[in-house]
Amino acid sequence: MSDLDVETTLNMLLREIKNIYHSELDAFYPKDEVDSFFYLVIEHYLDLERFVLALNPDLVITKTEEQPLFEALSQLRLERPIQYILGGTQFMDLELMVNENVLIPRPETEELVRWIIGDYEVSEIEEINILDIGTGSGCIAISLAKFLKNAQVKALDVSDKALEVAKQNALLNEVKVEFIQADILIDVLLKEKYDIIVSNPPYVRRLEKNKIKLNVSENEPDIALFVEDNEPLVFYQKIIEFAKTNLKKEGWLYFEINQYLGEETKALFENDFTEVVLHKDMFGNDRMLKGKLKN
Ligand SMILES: C[S@@+](CC[C@H](N)C(=O)[O-])C[C@H]1O[C@@H](n2cnc3c(N)ncnc32)[C@H](O)[C@@H]1O
Repeated sequence: MSDLDVETTLNMLLREIKNIYHSELDAFYPKDEVDSFFYLVIEHYLDLERFVLALNPDLVITKTEEQPLFEALSQLRLERPIQYILGGTQFMDLELMVNENVLIPRPETEELVRWIIGDYEVSEIEEINILDIGTGSGCIAISLAKFLKNAQVKALDVSDKALEVAKQNALLNEVKVEFIQADILIDVLLKEKYDIIVSNPPYVRRLEKNKIKLNVSENEPDIALFVEDNEPLVFYQKIIEFAKTNLKKEGWLYFEINQYLGEETKALFENDFTEVVLHKDMFGNDRMLKGKLKN
């Protein structure tokens, strides 16, 4: 047997690896999710699109090529989110880098961003000043800067490590966003006034921990997710107070909210805001809230 033959017999068919993904992971995830992991992984590490396997079922890959596929598999077995394994995700069709210091951006948050874009895309305002509070990966701030003409965006987070990721993402997507490190629960003093303040703050009560998937609560940052059971709306209360001094006259406040606390969160808008709208997400859950600061 020549060296070449030995090499060939050692190499694996790509479809065999797909079968191994299923045999190892089907106990932990739905089958179609395992398919989707496999395709994401081959696209990421081998630059192969999903249809390649259908066109070429006998595709063979080398030992070196298969190695990252097996490494990803062992992390998936530990239920580490695929986005952290690959180091990135997509949000509003933008590529964003993510790591364990930031929340993985969610489709519900894209809905919040689309809501804002829909409200402002035909706006006559020359410069739309926006502040995103609790920016995490920067997903909201960066997509608004990218898709809203005339937007001037600032973004705030308490976590330096999250801000590092958000800054990289702004560079990656070639948008200008000014980042501020601050704790919104302590009085934050910013001189500027904004047309829009938006926030997806931490809102999961510790008592709801068993309602969220284990791979979320075990892997994503606690500081991005949880609030204490006895003060579930603390961020909303603080941000509303902040907005009362930092929104321009008739400026708008937009929130992503806890689906179980829609009415309670809406009630916080009662005194100082008008045109308040509670909006459901694609799953029919109360998820977004907006209101205009009264004159
Ligand atoms: C639910 S995550 C949202 C991240 C991102 N905006 C998104 O929608 O995916 C909440 C963010 O608020 C930040 N945060 C937590 N406590 C904060 C505080 N006291 N002041 C400012 N930001 C805070 C966290 O670091 C985290 O990035």
